[in-house]
Amino acid sequence: MKKIIVSFIAVCFFATNLFAQYQPTAENLAARKTFQDDKFGMFIHWGASSVLGHGEWVMNNRNIRVQEYSRLVQIFNPQAFDAKKWVATAKGAGMKYITFITRHHDGFSNWDTKQSDWKITNTPYGKDVLKQLADECHKQGIKLFLYYSLLDWYRSDYQYETGRTGKGTGRTQKSDWESYIRFMKAQLTELLTNYGEIGGIWFDGHWDQLDNDNDKTLKPKVNWHYEEIYQLIHKLQPKALISNNHHLQPIPGEDFQAFEKDLPGHNTTGFGGASVSELPLETCETINNSWGFNITDTSYKSKKDLIQYLVKAAGYNANFLLNIGPMPDGTIQPEFTERLGAIGDWLKINGDSIYGTRGNVIPPKDWGVVTMKGKTVFLHILQKPESPDFIFIPELKQPINGVKLFNQNKSVNFKQQPEGAFIYLKGITLDEIDTILEVELK
Ligand code: GLC
Repeated sequence: MKKIIVSFIAVCFFATNLFAQYQPTAENLAARKTFQDDKFGMFIHWGASSVLGHGEWVMNNRNIRVQEYSRLVQIFNPQAFDAKKWVATAKGAGMKYITFITRHHDGFSNWDTKQSDWKITNTPYGKDVLKQLADECHKQGIKLFLYYSLLDWYRSDYQYETGRTGKGTGRTQKSDWESYIRFMKAQLTELLTNYGEIGGIWFDGHWDQLDNDNDKTLKPKVNWHYEEIYQLIHKLQPKALISNNHHLQPIPGEDFQAFEKDLPGHNTTGFGGASVSELPLETCETINNSWGFNITDTSYKSKKDLIQYLVKAAGYNANFLLNIGPMPDGTIQPEFTERLGAIGDWLKINGDSIYGTRGNVIPPKDWGVVTMKGKTVFLHILQKPESPDFIFIPELKQPINGVKLFNQNKSVNFKQQPEGAFIYLKGITLDEIDTILEVELK
């Protein structure tokens, strides 16, 4: 009897441990690998807030009360929304996936949810944009990830009393956390059931229930029920990758680590700085300074800045998720499409040095970054090296077969010594964006 009890306890212990230790399925692991190979995605911030032309935080920033803000449901009417065009724009830019805002902090649902009336299908437009986008993504062979906000400025059941944002939206009713969690689970179930294969779920808003952005402890003022929510997602679609923009080390159940406006390990924003995990990585950035449509923000990054960011991200072993905030009518402004087209043109020629590569095998240098695929090492010279005549790579100790200018049959001189490899640049005109040298290892 004693023996039975002991083994029963052992089994229980093992089971709970297994529970705690998330074991991704084989298909999930394969999806992570494909995700890393894909390298480049399009982030789309869009919804009822776009109407106001002041970014997706407008409800919070202007303290618009729910009562008034809800009028947007009568006004948002994206007559020119064309899923086919959006997907084609992403593909033309060389992007392999789209991460679409299904519901941002203002709580507006961009699909025909049964859980709320605050949704696209109650606008004069009346159609489910997510459905159209999902169908088009599946048709054109591009993956679809869904951004989903954990925090909510609109609903009264969200525990807004302890939230850091959304204080001025006029809510007075006492929150009801259990109801809010039920709501999120029901919505996520819809998203993962009714829209075909989903690449993953991208959570945001965890930090709303922390004291400040530098709070690196995982002690929010609410219980987000991550374990249950993550299990639900992985049960509905085991391949779907989960990421959470909580700015912390990933927690069990997450499949890739997200960085916001910073390369992994960097912290120029104040919310970077989480240590870099073993999981696949992704960093997101805007073309101007806004995520959602902002009519006065004209500080567009140059084609060079954007391409170099993509290359650097690859060098840091991260994907690059580049954002657009389409206009309220559903069109994408020309400043965005031009830049996306230019990145696409660049990738058509240079994509082999980015897609399917891994970074951080050789750490970033002051002149650029290094990516690698099989026995090929790509040196991306993004700015003039200290010495104009050569670059020195101490980590490159494996015997080299040859070095040439990428995509050209022009060989480049090199010398290997016990302390590393010298690559000589004499006679090479450096490219303004990226001079790529291809090193073939023996
Ligand atoms: C921030 C913002 C949000 C945006 C996100 C994208 O967390 O709150 O508006 O969607 O960054 O990374």
